[in-house]
Amino acid sequence: MNRRQIVAGNWKMNMTLEEGTTLASSIIEKLKPSQTSVILCPPYIHLHSLSTLISGISNLSLGAQNCHFEKSGAFTGEVSAAMVKSTGATYVILGHSERREYFHETESMLAKKVNAVLSQGISPIFCCGEKLESREAGTQEEVVRTQLEGGLFHLDAEAFSKVVIAYEPVWAIGTGKTASKEQAQEMHHFIRQLISHRYNSELANLTTILYGGSCNPGNAHELFSQPDVDGGLIGGASLKADDFIAIINSFPKSE
Ligand code: 13P
Repeated sequence: MNRRQIVAGNWKMNMTLEEGTTLASSIIEKLKPSQTSVILCPPYIHLHSLSTLISGISNLSLGAQNCHFEKSGAFTGEVSAAMVKSTGATYVILGHSERREYFHETESMLAKKVNAVLSQGISPIFCCGEKLESREAGTQEEVVRTQLEGGLFHLDAEAFSKVVIAYEPVWAIGTGKTASKEQAQEMHHFIRQLISHRYNSELANLTTILYGGSCNPGNAHELFSQPDVDGGLIGGASLKADDFIAIINSFPKSE
């Protein structure tokens, strides 16, 4: 396979500074060198100190969970892409369903955030995924198409090549109800087709598409064995070093 395998841990709003340092140290201790890129996405407050902790570990990087689209200014409580980059982080999760739902992030805001992140030479991990009612109505592909068209497809091919996509069906997030391997493969294949139509098949084949939603050591292997699933964006299971490491070791070729 010629595209990158990634496992990213989205810590969400968990871990004090001390707890996060302990978790990251434990992950570092257990992490074996491999072709899989591992990205820790803690709350902002951890980024700088974890950056020092992980320095020199070639397959480990850091990401933020969000950023603002403006460069600087009177936006109390917000953090810019340049600030994220200055900590040593190289990724930013954008468009997570929790941000879309609780913080009313729209496609046009996300398009601006994507631009802000890319302008700093770092990469968005762009989340998409349908809610349960769309899955039940069979409109999941339309939902995901609208999200990608609104947030990403304004990019030119060169800029798009820096993007990682995460498909996270909302009904699978934090529910213990994961998408079946067939559902995941079907949507990942659909996303790759959309990229191919918008750009070209070469770029589509090079784009890393992660699955997220109740991914755990028990289901990661079958999900990661699907031809269009290139890894995972892990929530709850990324807060336990052993589970996270087990997921990282779940790719077929790392058996
Ligand atoms: P869970 O793995 O806890 O379901 O969360 C997935 C997620 O939202 C990752 O961004």
